[in-house]
Amino acid sequence: MFVLAIETSCDETASAVLRDGPEVLSNIVLSQDEVHAPYGGVVPELASRQHLKSIDYIVRESLDVAGVRLDHIDYFGVTQGPGLIGSLLVGLSFAKGLAYYFRKRLLGIDHIQAHIEAAFLENREIVFPVLALVVSGGHTSLFHLKKKLDYELLGRTRDDAAGEALDKIAKFLDLGYPGGPVIQRLAEPGDSGRFEFTLPRMTDRSHDFSFSGLKTAALRIIREAKISRDSSALADFLAGFESAIVRALLENMFRAADRLEMKSLLICGGVARNKRLRSEFEKQARSLGANFYIPSPKLCTDNAAMVGALALAKIEREKISPNADGSSLDLDAYPRQP
Ligand code: KG4
Ligand code: ZN
Repeated sequence: MFVLAIETSCDETASAVLRDGPEVLSNIVLSQDEVHAPYGGVVPELASRQHLKSIDYIVRESLDVAGVRLDHIDYFGVTQGPGLIGSLLVGLSFAKGLAYYFRKRLLGIDHIQAHIEAAFLENREIVFPVLALVVSGGHTSLFHLKKKLDYELLGRTRDDAAGEALDKIAKFLDLGYPGGPVIQRLAEPGDSGRFEFTLPRMTDRSHDFSFSGLKTAALRIIREAKISRDSSALADFLAGFESAIVRALLENMFRAADRLEMKSLLICGGVARNKRLRSEFEKQARSLGANFYIPSPKLCTDNAAMVGALALAKIEREKISPNADGSSLDLDAYPRQP
């Protein structure tokens, strides 16, 4: 049984073919980084137009690499939200066209849940309950999964996402886009203790996140210490900022892990590619004695294999038939996490 999955929620045009198992037969991702880099962030209208230009080629490429013909696909899966509405509509309309023509079932997939599924794609043995931190350019959310496909939202960011904060500071200092990987590279030789960043504290006991305070603190330090892309203190500053973001994420996550007695912990999403976050997470999870998982870097950033994996999990769990049903063509995109 074959699934073709499409992801266009932000600035990656992606398509993947999976077989039940799940087995990834192809996972093609076209990044638009070069299109948005001059602006220091994603320009929504350019993103939609770029998806429109690339989608048919990327889908064809995913079928060619997998060696599967379009008329052999049993199910279509597509990211339904959250994300940029114009971008989502390109993938959704394209997938609807295919599902309509071949009279097959189309499954709308949640982007954030798909990020979590990336960890299950590589690790079949994950034991529940699971605590999952999704941390990317658009999202920072903490979920408790008591069992497979059962997502309880414990907290989410009240302002910026963690990746967004990294991207904005990189943009301010004219370091390049996307900011996360650039900051990781430039911060590597830095001393994270030189500049002091106070971590945000939620006044209530919730597991929400907030990164706007850290961003303001960073802008204050930039002004006071006269940090620029050429200054000698840049590496120390970036190491301090990156480390503060990592500590804010993990402090919240491990507070929940302590309270809820989790069996497994996982982090996913684009920012989970970050080396400092990965190593700190591993260290703390080990000392807690919990199982821990991080998808491989290619499955952390946006891709369609994670969308196909979640589609397959749903098909199996809900015994969904491949034959088209009326509801497939009624699917609408949603911009925000419901
Ligand atoms: O998951 P993703 O591809 O897209 C969203 O769903 O938002 O994540 C993109 C985000 C960007 O903010 C980017 O700066 C960040 O992931 N990112 C990183 C690294 N690689 C990507 N942040 C920190 N360190 C990295 N190595
Ligand atoms: Zn994402």
